[in-house]
Amino acid sequence: MKKNKELQQRKELAIAKGQKNLFPIYIDKAINAEIWDVEGTRYIDFCAGIAVTNVGHGHPKVMAALKEQIENFTHTCVMINPYESAIALAEKLNTLVPIKKAKSVFLNSGAEAVENAIKIAKAYTKRSSVISFVGSFHGRTHMCLGLTGKFHPYKEGFGPFPNGIYHIPFPNNNYGISIEDSLDTLKELFKTTVDPTEIAAIIIEPVQGEGGFHIAPKKFIEALRLLCDQYGILLICDEIQTGFARTGAFFAIEHSNVEPDIITLGKGLANGIPLSAVVGKEKIMDAAISLGGTFGGSPIGCQSALAVIDIINDENLCERALEIGKTCSDSLNKLKNRYPDKIACVRNSGAMIAIEIVTDGNFKQPDTNTTKKIIQESSNLGLLLLSCGMDGNIIRLLPPLTIEFDILNEGLDILNKTIIKFFSE
Ligand SMILES: Cc1ncc(COP(=O)(O)O)c(C=O)c1O
Repeated sequence: MKKNKELQQRKELAIAKGQKNLFPIYIDKAINAEIWDVEGTRYIDFCAGIAVTNVGHGHPKVMAALKEQIENFTHTCVMINPYESAIALAEKLNTLVPIKKAKSVFLNSGAEAVENAIKIAKAYTKRSSVISFVGSFHGRTHMCLGLTGKFHPYKEGFGPFPNGIYHIPFPNNNYGISIEDSLDTLKELFKTTVDPTEIAAIIIEPVQGEGGFHIAPKKFIEALRLLCDQYGILLICDEIQTGFARTGAFFAIEHSNVEPDIITLGKGLANGIPLSAVVGKEKIMDAAISLGGTFGGSPIGCQSALAVIDIINDENLCERALEIGKTCSDSLNKLKNRYPDKIACVRNSGAMIAIEIVTDGNFKQPDTNTTKKIIQESSNLGLLLLSCGMDGNIIRLLPPLTIEFDILNEGLDILNKTIIKFFSE
């Protein structure tokens, strides 16, 4: 039997240091929300590969679609000899997004989708600058890192980034940043630093992912839409983490009545097969003369995504995301009431659930250390969790949306036990 320890040693010798792994737990197999490592230990998966396996590991419909496609052909390049699945998927996405007349383009990763969204926005507006948010995360290529509003660890050692990127605060009542504060900074930026006629796009995550599961207020998104309309700026919604039923709607922007110009998709789109997409208003999408890449829109990815969309509809996963969110927040709020000085906040947008760990009940005193310990101890007890936030003091829960409720509760029991252990010390 292979051992986790030996594999970790081999990994450290063979894979660059920068590509870290949170757990030295090497996976043998995974079914829905359960994972078994090479030593036969079972874990409950509250990570879903960072919001990717929304329809669970090895969903029979995804597996069947993949098998059939692999047996037929695996690659021709959609830009050489296309295939119907790419058209079918684009047609589906174009009608699913809350954009009236949309078109799609396929890429591989979330970062590539963001890169292309910016390219398209620049081509359409003939403008060169972009606004994004403090605390945002948009990927690890140069443009995406430039847009990302968190320095350590993502940007460290990699600058300079492209010119013409400006960051404004993300409104957050807990951190004392009101909607007005955020909009005032934007208006000030227009007065002091850059003319709005130079701005091609504002890019926003409707719920910040890596930044800490902070939910953009509906009113703020509406105000951004108005501002964008006033100045001819495009509104790009980065739904790479929030998309595909995760927040209780197909796309998180649907919780508002705002129609964005462009949406970026990735992660849950194909449930683990690398595939991403940019979907936007037809006239905007068609302004870019050349887009694409060798692997973007692979037949395997497209078939997987078509199956994912059917599963989300057939199994009512938007509703399920809301139920999962409620079950988790009910359980975690009991802990918050018990330890108000240590848990500053439990919040969720559907099944994007976060617990913010602090000292003295103060948002300005993040307790990164205890957060790490809770995540480590939970994994020792069989539950896999991630952290997020500017200070890494927010535990995020991202179970597959197909998780069985007894397994969800089993995971929550482990988390409760771990938190009580550390907070009662
Ligand atoms: C909102 C958001 N945008 C972009 C990305 C980058 O996606 P990828 O890692 O697939 O390049 C991520 C990844 O975490 C993300 O959460």
